[in-house]
Amino acid sequence: MKALVIYDSIYGNTAEIAKAIGNGIAGEVKVVGVSEVNQQGMESLDLLVVGAPTQAGRPSQAMKDFLDQLSDSITQGVNVAAFDTRLTTRWIKLFGYAAGKIGKNLKKKGGNLLLDPEPFFVTGKEGPLKEGELERAAAWGRQIAGSL
Ligand SMILES: Cc1cc2nc3c(=O)[nH]c(=O)nc-3n(C[C@H](O)[C@H](O)[C@H](O)COP(=O)(O)O)c2cc1C
Repeated sequence: MKALVIYDSIYGNTAEIAKAIGNGIAGEVKVVGVSEVNQQGMESLDLLVVGAPTQAGRPSQAMKDFLDQLSDSITQGVNVAAFDTRLTTRWIKLFGYAAGKIGKNLKKKGGNLLLDPEPFFVTGKEGPLKEGELERAAAWGRQIAGSL
């Protein structure tokens, strides 16, 4: 199984979550920052997982730019999953979150969304992650792999 986890991260929290998800998926899995991805390396994937920090209710700008130029030919018929990191503060809910928007984008491009988009929580803008989130991320990775 060829799996790729692509993430953006400004303060490092989403990167940590992405790596934990990759460990959970196991097998032939690469975890790559969005600025290092090239679409040639994305051909014939069995699984694509995409995650970003939520900023103003959306994926971070680098992830938004990446998704805007991501070709349907990469995602068509591919198993996909989406996650984000976000604050625990509730009022922020008004603006929405990144994960659902990433999931919607991948689905629109023909991806087969395996699970509901998943949130992981930070306790402040720069982190740290809420306790237990790395373990939860690894478990989510295992769940993805198990649903293939
Ligand atoms: C400019 C900016 C806007 C943000 N907007 C939101 C938001 O709308 N909702 C939310 O839950 N968190 C928001 N946050 C908190 C981020 O989600 C948090 O910084 C991120 O999860 C940290 O991930 P990273 O360490 O990978 O960058 C925002 C942070 C920044 C810097």
